[in-house]
Amino acid sequence: MSDHYADALAAVATDVDATIARLLDRGSHSAAAQSPDEVTNLWDAMRYAVLAGGKRLRPFLVVSAAKICGGDRATALRVAAAVEMMHTYSLVHDDLPAMDDDDLRRGRPSLHRKFDEASAILAGDALLTLAFEVLADPTTHPDGAIRAELVLGLARAGGPAGMAGGQMLDLEAERRPDVGDAEIMQLESMKTGALFAWSCEAGAVSAGADETARAHLRAFGEDFGLAFQITDDILDEVGDVAEAGKTVGKDQARGKATFVSRHGLQGAREIAAQHVQKAVGNLDFFGQKAELLRAAAERLIDRRV
Ligand code: IPE
Ligand code: IPE
Ligand code: MG
Ligand code: MG
Ligand code: MG
Repeated sequence: MSDHYADALAAVATDVDATIARLLDRGSHSAAAQSPDEVTNLWDAMRYAVLAGGKRLRPFLVVSAAKICGGDRATALRVAAAVEMMHTYSLVHDDLPAMDDDDLRRGRPSLHRKFDEASAILAGDALLTLAFEVLADPTTHPDGAIRAELVLGLARAGGPAGMAGGQMLDLEAERRPDVGDAEIMQLESMKTGALFAWSCEAGAVSAGADETARAHLRAFGEDFGLAFQITDDILDEVGDVAEAGKTVGKDQARGKATFVSRHGLQGAREIAAQHVQKAVGNLDFFGQKAELLRAAAERLIDRRV
């Protein structure tokens, strides 16, 4: 039986990996080509982190959203590459000893274990910065106003009101026993929902879509992201290290409050399912064209990776 969603995800993964590999080819950056050999280590560390597999779900959302809005695939792939660089930087820093202190990522030693902490910090910095360079580059889109929108949106999604702020709340919450549902929802929405929402909206922006389409895709991505983080927390409890490619059982060991710790596995699955339903409701606007996005959301509930 053909699986349109799995095929489409694999096709985006192949294409975005090729785009990222080109962007991380040191020789394609004129200043980098002349920089000292020591910097080679930094490029190697960046490639190790970002070209290590990974589901490429955010790139899939960017490319699929752009497609249903009639956008150009090459443009969408560069936007997707930028989002994936920001996401990978967040994982590299999330694994550092000062944060989650994780030794395994994407089925391999985490970057600071394979290289060292300083290289992991700098590779994260460089991936984050390169993401903005890619978006600001006229090769991504000829229209400067669209490039500015793309830069603005990624900055908001990753900054203090988005991912970085959410990661701060997440770490603070580990130290507090009194964290309630509303706070968990807020920190998960910031640390994970913001970048998923932006992935969907960025696809629309790169296609020059109108505000209505943008708003529907943003709302879809926000609930998709919440369902994704809740299922990540479920996998932390019941997932398999080999399948997930990262340490499991960490949240409970650290006493982290999640929907799983507060409502049990079944309760958390129900909350995730409610967000999937809400997410999918935003796709009615696009009709059949949104079939792949709908499938991506529905698969979240039973995901094993
Ligand atoms: C992991 O993200 C971090 C979370 C937001 C839960 P992914 O599960 O998308 O990680 P990769 O990209 O597939 O490795
Ligand atoms: C991290 O959440 C989300 C990010 C923004 C990186 P987790 O700490 O639960 O992610 P994993 O489980 O390590 O991938
Ligand atoms: Mg974390
Ligand atoms: Mg972590
Ligand atoms: Mg997790």
